[in-house]
Amino acid sequence: MPYIPPRFPKKQGNPINKAHGTIPDGQIEIEHGRKGFFGRVSHLYKSNKPTSWSRVEGPLQHYAFSLLRMETDDQRDVYANPTLLFHNNDCKISLSKITTEMPYYARNADGDLNIFVHKGQGIMESDYGRIAFRRGDYIIIPRGTSYRLIPETTDNFLLHIEASDSQYDLPDRGMLGPTAQIDPGMIETPELPDNPTRPDDEWEVRIKKYGQYTKVFYPFNPVEDTVAWKGDVTVWKVNIRDFNPIMSPKYHLPPSAHTTFIARGFVICSFVPRPLEDPDVLRIPFYHSNIEYDELLFYHDGEFFSRHGIDEADVTLHPPGILHGPQPQAFDKVQNNSAKTHTNEYAVMIDTRAPLHITDAVKTVEKKDYMQSWKE
Ligand SMILES: [Fe+2]
Repeated sequence: MPYIPPRFPKKQGNPINKAHGTIPDGQIEIEHGRKGFFGRVSHLYKSNKPTSWSRVEGPLQHYAFSLLRMETDDQRDVYANPTLLFHNNDCKISLSKITTEMPYYARNADGDLNIFVHKGQGIMESDYGRIAFRRGDYIIIPRGTSYRLIPETTDNFLLHIEASDSQYDLPDRGMLGPTAQIDPGMIETPELPDNPTRPDDEWEVRIKKYGQYTKVFYPFNPVEDTVAWKGDVTVWKVNIRDFNPIMSPKYHLPPSAHTTFIARGFVICSFVPRPLEDPDVLRIPFYHSNIEYDELLFYHDGEFFSRHGIDEADVTLHPPGILHGPQPQAFDKVQNNSAKTHTNEYAVMIDTRAPLHITDAVKTVEKKDYMQSWKE
């Protein structure tokens, strides 16, 4: 029998009975939850916002970065690798801004790769055939697969999210059923071309293993020579605009309701436009610190309803311990505005169990005043 820890809910004072319900004037709600948003939980009602700090001393802070401002290595040199932004043992997040087709095939032998296409469109060649990509696609490339991107656009912005030493899966949707949020019928896979046209010149396959790169050269095209394949390992993709949100008009669902992919040590969630809750319940995220997870959020498109001062392609990183929640402007813009009926945002959240390290490269585009953005 698995060990089930005892639960002993208690209360003090006179809290509202329903979490995220009608919060009395002058109070704000804080969630102390475990295991992401799945575990034990308490809600605290306070008279001050936990983000109303007068100052912070020490290493813990929230971060924002402007990735549009960043110049990547592969933007300058198409032979360069994507630029690493954030990393831990489970997950590595890099940025590619290639301006032309890759002149080599890449093969990640460290883990599955999920390429989120923030900007760009074109064709990807792989061992399993060709597949078109466009803005908003999540392209999953199984570990060990050779691939090459051939964009039709010069202004490309591709977020590479590596599931290091693990693989991407779809989460179990439980009572929602297997087709609720992504119908597997929407998943696209590559097709072998009728007439591979790549010249039989020398081709490079660049293998990443243990974080190091090895170049293997062939006197023929080593990818487009696939004549047939079968099985259930292949490249696959879904578009963020095909992700169906779930919501309740009476209860603000936690971010875990938007889980799109799971891998070892982290999840990827998609925030997409959805109806807002009724005006008499909480409509904006509750204050929390998600004590076991680093929360990284990439702002893809639309109007970011709970964040102020955040632009397209910004990334925020909220580590656990120090709380975060809506900025003061969100209360007027959304919570107290019954004319506002829908969110209009597309964002990709990566929640990691282990802390994410921040590279010097991404620190060059840090928005230094982010900790002040909660000031009234
Ligand atoms: Fe959060």
